[in-house]
Amino acid sequence: MKAQSFPLTKLQPVEIVPANWRDTFSLHQLEKICFPLDSWPLFDIIAALTFPNMVRLKALDGDHLAGFILGDYRPFENTAWIASLAVHPDYRNRGIGAELLEKCEKQIKAPRVSLSVRISNDAAIRLYKRNGYRVVSNWPKYYNGGEDALVMEKDL
Ligand SMILES: CC(C)(COP(=O)(O)OP(=O)(O)OC[C@H]1O[C@@H](n2cnc3c(N)ncnc32)[C@H](O)[C@@H]1OP(=O)(O)O)[C@@H](O)C(=O)NCCC(=O)NCCS
Repeated sequence: MKAQSFPLTKLQPVEIVPANWRDTFSLHQLEKICFPLDSWPLFDIIAALTFPNMVRLKALDGDHLAGFILGDYRPFENTAWIASLAVHPDYRNRGIGAELLEKCEKQIKAPRVSLSVRISNDAAIRLYKRNGYRVVSNWPKYYNGGEDALVMEKDL
């Protein structure tokens, strides 16, 4: 899909606020741009925006969705998972991913947070390591196309 283009307001600070079901369409669009191989079906996005025990935050530049994060607290595992984190290509490399991650961690009510990431996703792996995540395992052929996942974890 062609990346959505935004007006030249991208150097304005973004606002990080809670997301909800009204964001379904824009989040689905951004997901497809950021995860061309792994984007979620619409139903999964609706579920993530409505189910309990989820932290959902969005980064807004005015009315434009610049990024989002979904944190999924699983009480039976005593762990939260970063279910998704994405920043629109026009808004990358200015700290929005790190800010979304930090704010999500602050709202997560679990002693530990985990995530999985494609082993080739250097930008994301650097972001997670810089923010205190360590690699704890590898899930072979986890992703579409057969790529391995790194599983990373951080104690909160
Ligand atoms: C991974 C992802 C969320 C990172 O988002 P981001 O907003 O670019 O992240 P940040 O800006 O916090 O950090 C990215 C880089 O910008 C740098 N940076 C942050 N603020 C900066 C600033 N003000 N000026 C210059 N560089 C800056 C960071 O140091 C970092 O550099 P590095 O990659 O060399 O270590 C984004 O690339 C993305 O959406 N990718 C596609 C989806 C994806 O892979 N999600 C993760 C799935 S597990």
